[in-house]
Amino acid sequence: MTRRLLDLLDTKEMVVVCGSGGTGKTTVAAALGVQAATRLGGRVLVLTVDPARRLADALGLAGALGNTPVRVDVPGAELWMAMLDTKAGWDELIRRHAPDPALRERVLANPLYRNITGRFVNSHDYIAMEQLHELHASGQYDLVIIDTPPSRNALDLLDAPGRMREFFGSALLKWLTVPYRSRLFNVATKPFNQIADRILGSRFLQDIAEFFVLFRTMEAGFVQRATEVERLLVDDRTTFVVVSTLDPAPAREARFLAEELRRRSMPLGAMVLNRTLPAEVRRPVAARAAVALRALDPGVVGEVAATAAVRPAAAAHVIDEVARRFGEVQSVATREAERRRELEVLAPLVAEAPLLAGDVHDLAGLRALGRRLTGGREAGGSR
Ligand SMILES: Nc1ncnc2c1ncn2[C@@H]1O[C@H](COP(=O)(O)OP(=O)(O)OP(=O)(O)O)[C@@H](O)[C@H]1O
Ligand SMILES: [Mg+2]
Repeated sequence: MTRRLLDLLDTKEMVVVCGSGGTGKTTVAAALGVQAATRLGGRVLVLTVDPARRLADALGLAGALGNTPVRVDVPGAELWMAMLDTKAGWDELIRRHAPDPALRERVLANPLYRNITGRFVNSHDYIAMEQLHELHASGQYDLVIIDTPPSRNALDLLDAPGRMREFFGSALLKWLTVPYRSRLFNVATKPFNQIADRILGSRFLQDIAEFFVLFRTMEAGFVQRATEVERLLVDDRTTFVVVSTLDPAPAREARFLAEELRRRSMPLGAMVLNRTLPAEVRRPVAARAAVALRALDPGVVGEVAATAAVRPAAAAHVIDEVARRFGEVQSVATREAERRRELEVLAPLVAEAPLLAGDVHDLAGLRALGRRLTGGREAGGSR
């Protein structure tokens, strides 16, 4: 497409790349990072979530420690990448909000802590947004691009900070903690506690209660932070990029996501249509060529067979099969075009990249994808 996607990256400080599972969020986030760093300059950070092993290796991320950014070797550019580590993200939050070192250690050492935080609804989503806040606030980067976790529901991501805030201010948390204290002195519930202790292990209920009691001491900090993280999502300096393929399910989800972003006043900057069929497939001349191939003169088929040194029947079979399959590809392309029209109206900017040959697993692949998305050439481009 045009330079416009690059202009969007140029005018924003935080980019949230979201969309349904497997559409190419991680790859697109990394490709946009490479484009921004090489063509716009400045310090660019991409926070990825669970990148494919080969890509992580190629970028030198494999040995990277959690949320600590590592510099990626891109000549003439300052590109940094980090991999989201939810567990480390939680530990950082506890360190930040614990009122004193002793309490901090007690939370971190609580056997239920890891188990429970990992199970909080949207735990990964929240930590991703929290890290975005953290990295942006550090002031070390001109642009932070964040890839988002594969969610079951696209809204989980948008709702994560609000849910975290609600949880800490909720009656549920109060209920989980206060009754325990009274339970300790309550004759009526003592036998229950004893039985539970016998069945679940002697410290189980105590661990749960202690965990939530400790958590409540951090309520104010967590609520304030979640509110800040929530504000970030409607900030002028933030933009959302929704990635989708033109398959029915992801396209439906992209549409839903775009509508929800609008409803929440979260700025949708661009829609990226990834792994699409090339436009040439839909051209009438291509259809005519396919029809002509199926009606080839046997003499011509014979010549092809002779050139390829195969039997004429084999050549005829392959030509017919390829031409027939091309018809199928064309009908998929036609359906893709309909979905493209439906999605185009939802975003101020649409960028598209075709299905590239092979996975995108190295810097050259990211450059090729990024160029398709932003148009033009970046310095040092080699593909
Ligand atoms: N335009 C493209 N052409 C070819 N392969 C692509 C393209 N875009 C992405 N891929 C490949 O598709 C696979 C899935 O991409 P990716 O991991 O970026 O998706 P994702 O949306 O981050 O998935 P998840 O929701 O699981 O996090 C990867 O193997 C990647 O190399
Ligand atoms: Mg991913």
